[in-house]
Amino acid sequence: MSATQSFDTLMPDELLAFLPCRTPQAWIDAALGNERLLMIDHAQCEKKAASTAMSLMYRYTGHSELLTKMSQLAREELLHFEQVVNLMRERGIDYQHLSASRYAGGLREHVREQEPGRLIDVLIIGAYIVAPAKPRFFPGSRIRLSLYWPMSTKN
Ligand SMILES: [Fe+2]
Repeated sequence: MSATQSFDTLMPDELLAFLPCRTPQAWIDAALGNERLLMIDHAQCEKKAASTAMSLMYRYTGHSELLTKMSQLAREELLHFEQVVNLMRERGIDYQHLSASRYAGGLREHVREQEPGRLIDVLIIGAYIVAPAKPRFFPGSRIRLSLYWPMSTKN
């Protein structure tokens, strides 16, 4: 059984159904071969998610439900950030700045300037970035596995 097949058997059915295709083995191999970069990028993504949530809280003060959801999200993402930084410390990986990805920047270029389109676009882009990240990282990373599926950390 290949590594991809064995990881796929661990993934919940709803995550497998969500992904339009399986994660390529080449991507998994590249990720596992660059653990330091992967963890730094992961930490940065968690921090950026929290930052974006807080930015929305500052910008949309009149949306009480949004404020509550973004507050919850910011706390959750900061907890993830702490978990990644702790794992990095355990593995002797120094946190370093990475430049922003072209992927996120490219998506943001299409955000409308006028409301409510701007808010809608930012939320959709956030969903596009975050939603596939968890299942996509799952087969390739014990790091993600231990953060998002604590019950599966024996793998
Ligand atoms: Fe997160």
